[in-house]
Amino acid sequence: MSRKKFLLGNWKMNKVPSEALSFMEKAPEMAALASKKGIEIGVAPTFLCLEAVKAKAPKGFVVSAQNVNEHSSGAYTGEVSPLMLRAIGIDHAIIGHSERREYNGETSKACNLKIKALLAEGLTPVYCCGESLATYEAGETVDFVKTQIEEGFADLTKEEAKKVVVAYEPIWAIGTGKSASKEDAEKTISAIRGVLKEFFGETAEEIRILYGGSVKPNNIKAYLACPDIDGALVGGASLAPESFMELIEESV
Ligand code: 13P
Repeated sequence: MSRKKFLLGNWKMNKVPSEALSFMEKAPEMAALASKKGIEIGVAPTFLCLEAVKAKAPKGFVVSAQNVNEHSSGAYTGEVSPLMLRAIGIDHAIIGHSERREYNGETSKACNLKIKALLAEGLTPVYCCGESLATYEAGETVDFVKTQIEEGFADLTKEEAKKVVVAYEPIWAIGTGKSASKEDAEKTISAIRGVLKEFFGETAEEIRILYGGSVKPNNIKAYLACPDIDGALVGGASLAPESFMELIEESV
């Protein structure tokens, strides 16, 4: 089963629209290089920049939201729905990033509702999981992440599950420059695939699982060479177009 590698830049709360558009001037070059390498690429700007970035995105260049509400419309002040994302041509959304879990109290059960809402609108969820330093040091990473996967994927059919992208991001590796070793990342990601197999059988082989956490041009190749790692979710190194180009160049 061959899973196309996926490199997604999570811009978090960075870039005003003019900066986002300036990045996108390089997008055709990025897309051409990605196509030559046979990988899929994209970025996740803030809600504010989605429409403008999408308008500049070449064919196949993914533009993703960073969050979504599980409802279609209604009295949910400050929220954006899957229906609204679809209406402006957005087809991916990151769900359950550890920063949202920490600062916005998102739980895996809440993520499950968002995942179902995205799938119902035909959008692709990029579901994040990952453990804290304390959990890692206690040797409880696999058990912790398994629960996040079980709760996030609860009640999905095989057909739905294979449309979800998982991003394993150890919290202690995010923005710290302390990336997980490729052995640790592969071990946890292969355990995630094991849980997905328990639920969805061989369909688990079709589900893409990315690694995230201090991915840089100088370490991306090692991660992507691991058998179960299907790409990367990149924060800091995705912000400058030169650095994102380098990530694509070094990816495979
Ligand atoms: P960094 O690549 O800056 O460590 O961020 C990772 C991340 O959180 C991507 O979602």
